[in-house]
Amino acid sequence: MAGLIPQDFIDDLIARADITEVVGRRVQLKKAGREFKACCPFHDEKTPSFTVSPGKGFYHCFGCGAHGTAIGFLMEFDHMSFVEAIESLAASMGVDVPRSESDKPARRYDELFSLLDSVARHWQNCLKETPTAVEYVKQRGIDGSTAKRFGIGYAPDGWSNVLDKFGKSDEATEKLLATGLIIRKDNGQHYDRFRDRIMFPIRDARGRTIGFGGRTLGDGEPKYLNSPETVLFHKGRELYGLYEARQALRSIEQLVVVEGYMDAVALARHGIDFAVATLGTATTPEHLNRLFRLTENVCFAFDGDRAGRKAAWRALENALPLIREGRQIRFMFLPEGHDPDSYVNEFGTDEFLEALDGGVALSEFLIQELASQVDMDTIDGRARLAELARPLVNKVPAGVYRELLLESLADAVGLTAAKLEKMLGTGASGDKRIQKPGALQRSRGRKSFSAVQPSVIRHSITLVLNEPQSCLKLDVEKLAGLNRPGAELLRSLIETAQAEPNITTAGILERYRHHDEGRHLGKLVASEVPLEEEFDAAAELAECLEQLALASRKARIDFLIEKQRVSGLSDDEKSELRALH
Ligand code: UTP
Ligand code: MN
Repeated sequence: MAGLIPQDFIDDLIARADITEVVGRRVQLKKAGREFKACCPFHDEKTPSFTVSPGKGFYHCFGCGAHGTAIGFLMEFDHMSFVEAIESLAASMGVDVPRSESDKPARRYDELFSLLDSVARHWQNCLKETPTAVEYVKQRGIDGSTAKRFGIGYAPDGWSNVLDKFGKSDEATEKLLATGLIIRKDNGQHYDRFRDRIMFPIRDARGRTIGFGGRTLGDGEPKYLNSPETVLFHKGRELYGLYEARQALRSIEQLVVVEGYMDAVALARHGIDFAVATLGTATTPEHLNRLFRLTENVCFAFDGDRAGRKAAWRALENALPLIREGRQIRFMFLPEGHDPDSYVNEFGTDEFLEALDGGVALSEFLIQELASQVDMDTIDGRARLAELARPLVNKVPAGVYRELLLESLADAVGLTAAKLEKMLGTGASGDKRIQKPGALQRSRGRKSFSAVQPSVIRHSITLVLNEPQSCLKLDVEKLAGLNRPGAELLRSLIETAQAEPNITTAGILERYRHHDEGRHLGKLVASEVPLEEEFDAAAELAECLEQLALASRKARIDFLIEKQRVSGLSDDEKSELRALH
């Protein structure tokens, strides 16, 4: 049971909610064709680029990229949790939220919090009693008081330690399941999720434990195991160490964002108690909003390797819409082979703080990265840089910072700021062009199947999301054997839409809210909305599936022919090849 609120209730709520009313009660909307427009409530702008589509139950801002369903809007705009948003939406429609359990939700949550707390304390005691675990923690440079401050513990080996101790009744077992501490097998039996791991409790802003990360003591896989998404725990929002930092500091001058639990703990151990870690996910806009509510000064610390720079780039992209006067966003890169934990342990506090001071400003990092992609010695290269910068600059709210960024860019490409601005065609609304579905047909002729395939899948997913009813007659079996990124997701989306003939775009998005792909899906709806009324999504989708089936068949033929050449084919493979031809 992923949540305590039944999914069919959420489906139904989303299908019946009027997003224009939900948004319209908080933002002045103007009708524009089938949609509604407004100045975006999530970033500063003078011309409206915020669009609400009642048909899809979806809002989207072309300026800053904000998007979501009615539930998502309440979460963002009113800073509600997922459950609070559902409760608010249900209340505004005059319906009660049913619970799988009959007891009151507030009590139920308190019980979950206190259960997690008891387990955390239990694991802290286990740590003290287990010499190998103590040894590991020490060897990682963590002293007793830091371990205590972060509530670090140890989950002993064995399949049912937690289950036996905390799951004595059916009700207790149910609670363990809801917090993700145990896993249910197909046969209905349960076992402990965390076994033989060093445990890091993840706490919310009020210091309540909401989940755990657990590290193996050796080289076991996965290195870190985390609590799943639960009613209490949402990875994309939480920052490890934030509560501890707030406890340690009277005022927060700056926050350093690191990637790992160990990084945050090691820095704290060395007196740098303003570090927080994302939980194995990219830095999300929710993370950034949280950080900026506490301080104006945020520095990302990443490893100096390629993966680190890539992660930093994603953080940059998410940070652009949140840039405001007074806010400082910087990036520090550690030498190859180091993360904050290893660096501070090897070189000490002062050296780390120095490296932190040496971090580059966001604008500098942006220009460095783009410059590394072009040949800055040629005019073409510099023009290309300006071109690459355009969508990024357009994400920055108009204002002093954007002017400064444009000036730095102009400097880099050797133009005056005014010329560059003209060239980039700035304007608060940014890049509004919508990719039309026809774009696919145009590119088809030129590219080979395999080259075009990821975009066919992407395009199909976009169609299913925007026009869920268009897949009612599709044969998903056409996708069988298609082993490409996104194929599995496409298949599951089609099946969802087929199982719920009345589902809306928003309904699908809510179904996928707690999947890793959820965020990605919202972007697809937002970026490529087919505009024409007469556009036949079902036909287009059917054609896409044909293409994919063909491509998959062709890939199999190529494989078999190659195998025939290299090592010969079995009888079965020979007849398969004949059939394919
Ligand atoms: P890293 O692989 O950089 O590990 O993962 P680390 O923090 O340096 O760990 P140590 O020093 O080897 O102990 C960074 C973060 O990514 C998430 C965790 O949140 C981790 O802290 N992660 C990593 C996982 O969730 N699962 C994994 O298997 C690996
Ligand atoms: Mn590390």
